[in-house]
Amino acid sequence: MANNLLQGKKGIIFGALNDQSIAWKTALQAHAQGAEVVLTNAPVAMRMGEIHQLAAQIGGAPVIPADATSVEDLTALFEGAMEHFGGQVDFVLHSIGMSPNVRKGKHYTDINYNWLQTTLDVSAISLHKTLAVAKKLDAIREWGSVVALTYIAAQRIFPDYGDMADAKSLLESITRSFGYHYGVDKKVRINTVSQSPTVTTAGSGVKGFDEFIAYSESMSPLGNADGLACADYCVSLFSDLTRFVTMQNLFHDGGFSNTGVSQEVIGKFAPED
Ligand code: NAI
Repeated sequence: MANNLLQGKKGIIFGALNDQSIAWKTALQAHAQGAEVVLTNAPVAMRMGEIHQLAAQIGGAPVIPADATSVEDLTALFEGAMEHFGGQVDFVLHSIGMSPNVRKGKHYTDINYNWLQTTLDVSAISLHKTLAVAKKLDAIREWGSVVALTYIAAQRIFPDYGDMADAKSLLESITRSFGYHYGVDKKVRINTVSQSPTVTTAGSGVKGFDEFIAYSESMSPLGNADGLACADYCVSLFSDLTRFVTMQNLFHDGGFSNTGVSQEVIGKFAPED
């Protein structure tokens, strides 16, 4: 594989919690392709300190804490990143999701509405805030690329995904709407990557995750896409090879989204003889 797809590019990566995180793997792959990176996560997520191991692995990347629901924190983040890079950034990865209702096992029909606000703010509106702050500060270079991670529960019901499904729908809508305005004004492109279920801290928080991942595996002609493959896909979207891709929801799921049923799954319903 080429190793200079992101040569000279500079980016901000949100959401690297530990070495399972999609953001963690994306930071490693982006660095391997020549990018310089600033890492960020919520201040509470930094207590474990693992992000500093990642920072060291990618050539001493700065780590700037920011709660992605805080416009103030996001402003300080973009200002800090531009100061560090000596100019604008080329790419941003939004790899953030959290639902108190899902975490606490609340049934979708009986959610706590204050927690729903938190789910939407953290998992979707944070993308709007990130983009609005970046645009005001003119922090992203022309033809720059923003990628946010999403899940197919935005289009189809997966009962245990709860109010995260609503957050993902909003996230994908913000991607289209902001993608239009940022595209017209600054030629910045914005896409979501709709990833297969992946073993991470956020992923494993969904009830029945092991069954879910096995079902998805058996419904995907290529099998589930893993976190590393997702990182590579994000790198391709940060690169100049995908310049005219914007406002899209891009499935990275081994074919799951276009499979009605697989032979393997139908076989489970065959009468035993
Ligand atoms: P993860 O748990 O490693 O990452 C989630 C990140 O969100 C954490 O780093 C956490 O600190 C951060 N976060 C939470 N609240 C925040 C806040 N207020 N401000 C800033 N950051 C905050 O899990 P994973 O799976 O890598 O999640 C990344 C993204 O991928 C999420 O959007 C998730 O919904 C999405 N995704 C995950 C799938 C999976 O099965 N793991 C499948 C499809 C999409």
